Amino acid sequence: MSLHGSGLEPMELFSSMKYSIKTGSPSKISSDCVVALVWNKGTLSDEAKAIDSASNKAISKIIRSGDFSGKLGETQLIHNPAGVTAKRVLLLGGGERRKLDGKNAGKLLQAGLKAAMKSKAASVHFATSSIEVSGRDGAWFAGRLAQEAEVCSYKYNETKSKKPPAITTRTISVAPSSGSRRKSVELSLKRGMITGKGVNRARQLGNLPGNICTPSYLAAQATDLGKKHGSLTVKVLTEKQMARLGMGSLLSVSAGSIEEAKLIVIEHKGAKVASKPHVLVGKGVTFDTGGISLKPGGGMDEMKFDMCGAASVMGTMAAIAEMKLPVNIVGIIAAAENMPGSKATKPGDIVTSMSGKTIEVLNTDAEGRLVLCDALTYAERYKPRSVIDIATLTGAAVATFGSHVNAMLSNDDALAKSLLECGEESLDRAWQLPLWDDYQSLLNSNFADIANIGGPRAGTITAACFLSRFAGKYKWAHLDIAGSAWNSGAAKGATGRPVSLLVEYLSRQKS
Ligand code: BES
Ligand code: MN
Ligand code: ZN
Repeated sequence: MSLHGSGLEPMELFSSMKYSIKTGSPSKISSDCVVALVWNKGTLSDEAKAIDSASNKAISKIIRSGDFSGKLGETQLIHNPAGVTAKRVLLLGGGERRKLDGKNAGKLLQAGLKAAMKSKAASVHFATSSIEVSGRDGAWFAGRLAQEAEVCSYKYNETKSKKPPAITTRTISVAPSSGSRRKSVELSLKRGMITGKGVNRARQLGNLPGNICTPSYLAAQATDLGKKHGSLTVKVLTEKQMARLGMGSLLSVSAGSIEEAKLIVIEHKGAKVASKPHVLVGKGVTFDTGGISLKPGGGMDEMKFDMCGAASVMGTMAAIAEMKLPVNIVGIIAAAENMPGSKATKPGDIVTSMSGKTIEVLNTDAEGRLVLCDALTYAERYKPRSVIDIATLTGAAVATFGSHVNAMLSNDDALAKSLLECGEESLDRAWQLPLWDDYQSLLNSNFADIANIGGPRAGTITAACFLSRFAGKYKWAHLDIAGSAWNSGAAKGATGRPVSLLVEYLSRQKS
């Protein structure tokens, strides 16, 4: 595809939506669309009440007609209501008021934004100052609004010959809840927007096909990112350089492919040089055929998403650079294409990793751990405070958790606890599996130090056990995002997870 020859075009597709705080009576706000909440069974929020009395009971009439009841995420548009300055009022169902937790608030915002953007309103105002979300404050709600607005406005059309018209919504405002500080709401809007853009960056990279999004393409994208942000420096290691470092495990995965593997290192310098960094390591298998242990044909196209861990590292690094987080953070991407071929690694081959450990490759389709282990050893040079790897690692994680959970395993309880909390806060939840020694012996090999598979049972755990052998020198957590990174079926596409979890985790760190 000549369009993508230079590899640098598509990242300019993100929205230029503006976010602001607006106060004033909901009936007098000048906006193309004012969003007002109605709770279950047609109970009007304070803002909906104000609009109702200004508009000769326009809302009450709709509710009495039975057309709208206030179920969570329900929407109803009213055009040119009399007595109201806004051109449109969008009724948004809030469901049961007492059940409005963070998760439901996220759903409600998604539904409201989708309907508002569909209406072609150039400006949208969320008249939601009376909203109370259990366990969250007004700043959280504003941040979530901005994040969901970015995510809602993303559409993949890079490789379609006809581009659909761009979304017409340009500005989004929110009425801050009483008691929230203006400054913190403003900061939260900004951070939410940046996080949303990071999520979209990860989605875009994930969605691009394997013939465009190669290891070299990921490297070019990272280099490009480094040019845009003063805090970022980017280094790309070639196969030759990796061979010199002894990365025989990573290189065994790309051996069968014409595409050169790349180790991409993105450093964010937000604190003093002496301040030890947090490290993210992403699996960047740009296409996973399984190699000689070839995968079955059905649905194999989805293995273009096997670089979603890498994409989440890229999206997160872009976001934290834009936020200017005052900490040092390193993103490492292990990028390779897993192909069969006359030079490909075969089952039974033994490779030597950078750590010196020898690995018997019993299954070439267990390639994610082979690229990650050398990246984990490379991470040692940073004397990191924590290392988190992110990988679409096992089908077993999909079988266990479906699509809602990031599977998490860790060698450090405090790190695990923090990631679980950050998942809750960012609505990008994780659940922990045991990394017990009991499972380690499943990786025994008669011919090498370790085998790359642990048999048919407990696949997510044995994969993490394999990685743990290379992560013994620091606090480490592993996120298996095989289930959460993309959707299949009619809504096939990358989700951008777990960018929000990672941004939340990194924003909590102190230098
Ligand atoms: N990328 C796959 C994991 C995967 C499979 C993610 C399906 C999402 C959906 C990984 O490289 C892989 O093939 N894992 C194997 C490991 C097995 C050979 C031990 C798997 O899970 O089947
Ligand atoms: Mn595989
Ligand atoms: Zn894979």
